[in-house]
Amino acid sequence: MRGVINYKWFVFFAVVIVIASCKKSDSSDFPPPPPDNTTIKESTSFTTGVAINYNLMKNNLTYSKVVKKHFDRVTFEYQMKHAANVQNNGMYNFTNSDELVSIAQAAGLEVYGHTLVWHQNNNGNYLRSLTSSGSALNPVLVKNAMQDWITTVVTRYKGKIKAWDVVNEVVDETGNFRTGTSTNDAFYWYSVLGSSYIADAFNYAHAADPTAVLFINDYNLESSPAKLSATIALVNQLKAAAVPLHGIATQMHISINTPDTNIDNMFAQLAATGLQVHVSELDVRINPGNVSPFTITPALLEQQAQKYKYVAQSYRNNVPVAQRYGITVWNVTDADSWIVTSMGQNDFPCLFDADYNKKPAFNLFVSGLKL
Ligand code: XIL
Repeated sequence: MRGVINYKWFVFFAVVIVIASCKKSDSSDFPPPPPDNTTIKESTSFTTGVAINYNLMKNNLTYSKVVKKHFDRVTFEYQMKHAANVQNNGMYNFTNSDELVSIAQAAGLEVYGHTLVWHQNNNGNYLRSLTSSGSALNPVLVKNAMQDWITTVVTRYKGKIKAWDVVNEVVDETGNFRTGTSTNDAFYWYSVLGSSYIADAFNYAHAADPTAVLFINDYNLESSPAKLSATIALVNQLKAAAVPLHGIATQMHISINTPDTNIDNMFAQLAATGLQVHVSELDVRINPGNVSPFTITPALLEQQAQKYKYVAQSYRNNVPVAQRYGITVWNVTDADSWIVTSMGQNDFPCLFDADYNKKPAFNLFVSGLKL
């Protein structure tokens, strides 16, 4: 009898112990992970990326460590563009692009192709040499050159680059197709080919890699209603014509003054197309007026942090899971930001400072990404 009673008590306490150990662990039971263990890529279920610089990724170990630790995807800020791979005689030299793709692949990073057809960063000398008798550009030669460039580069990286910004910034701030004077590395494809070059570019890219996810990319979609509506109208026209267009990339080079309601409205309208939505070039300027001298204050850094957080939250609140192609920030630190290096502005737009320290923007961006 005693044995039976003891056995029953044994079973009772064993059951109690098992139930107690299965108690859902309350996050308050454990201290939050130390900040330096928090990574951007582990803070969300969609892909996060960063635009990288060839020389820094190749030669700066601190830079490449931050990229590998925090991101799953990279965009080459310059290296995959026409100017970086097409020589003055029209011949291709992919040496540096091949090298950067290899570096990214060795690091387990996905490469997002940027960009096939843009009015900037072209080998303008070569493209402006495509003339008939005299100096007039020959549309047939220009169209053939665009097709050859797209076909060559997309074929070369098929299986290594899964998605491309096929066309970039094709609509101007008034909602019209972008035109201009082709000089230096600027070449205005629309001015030579008319609007058909856009569908042609997508068709060439799709023919070269039918598995590639193809995007139209632009900036100020959160700030210019005319540009946003024109872009969406263009996208709908292209889809109605069965053009292989799969997503809209919104660059989001924004500032602390960009209204939150604009951001919500943009994401809602982009999501309504049913296409993939990629935040492709996110940075947040804290000195949008480019005043000098300029003093960084904790208040400005907090405003920047709140804006990064808002973008992440609004993206999750307005873009369905199946349409979230991801969020890519443009450049790693304030020192290598294109706003500073290319635009020459006195600003600090990134998640990391010049010494690779996490800014308040990093912490609140991560909190905005969290499920
Ligand atoms: C910038 C790069 O960051 C610079 O290194 C380069 O000199 C010029 O282009 N929108 C775009 C990007 O689509 O290609 C631009 O990148 C930034 C604005």
